[in-house]
Amino acid sequence: MNNHTNPTIEEFITSIQIKDRISKLAKCIELDHQSQKLIALIVLKGSICFAADLLREIDLDVQIEFIHLSSYKDDVSTDIEMKSISSENFSGERIIIIEDIVDTGKTVNYISEYLAPLKPKSIQVCCLLNKKSRRQIPVQIDYNGFDIEDLFVVGYGMDFNNRFRNLPFIGVLN
Ligand code: IMP
Ligand code: MG
Repeated sequence: MNNHTNPTIEEFITSIQIKDRISKLAKCIELDHQSQKLIALIVLKGSICFAADLLREIDLDVQIEFIHLSSYKDDVSTDIEMKSISSENFSGERIIIIEDIVDTGKTVNYISEYLAPLKPKSIQVCCLLNKKSRRQIPVQIDYNGFDIEDLFVVGYGMDFNNRFRNLPFIGVLN
């Protein structure tokens, strides 16, 4: 996409590469949770494409729930607040947090701390992209799509000022 009103977006991870990687993640999740029920907790809005494609490849009993946070980022800090969560009945459940990108780790850390008092059996993290070099809080990632450098990416659910989420590939914004 490139015209005078749009910034240049360079294709970075193709839809074929995404599909391929997602199939492998789905297989890992199936193997780890054989015939167990799971709750996929989808982090809105960025994870919608990833979650929709991943969950359709998992041949297990999967309950889908959503969490929506608001985060205000400046250069030095991130302030995260809960906007809404579609259920809190997580006692004894196996939860997998489905996240688009783990960057500083603050979002996943916030969600894990929010969930812990709800007494789930387990909490795992599945992310499409991992920006390891940006980490400020260590978080365990159980299923990771791709490690990426410190680049700003859009597409396949991910946005810049709420734009570009519907691109079928992951691009780098220039
Ligand atoms: P963290 O709390 O710093 O780990 O931030 C994670 C959230 O920041 C992700 O869920 C994304 O919504 C957002 N984010 C981080 N990097 C990018 C990016 O390159 N493009 C779009 N969103 C990003
Ligand atoms: Mg996000």
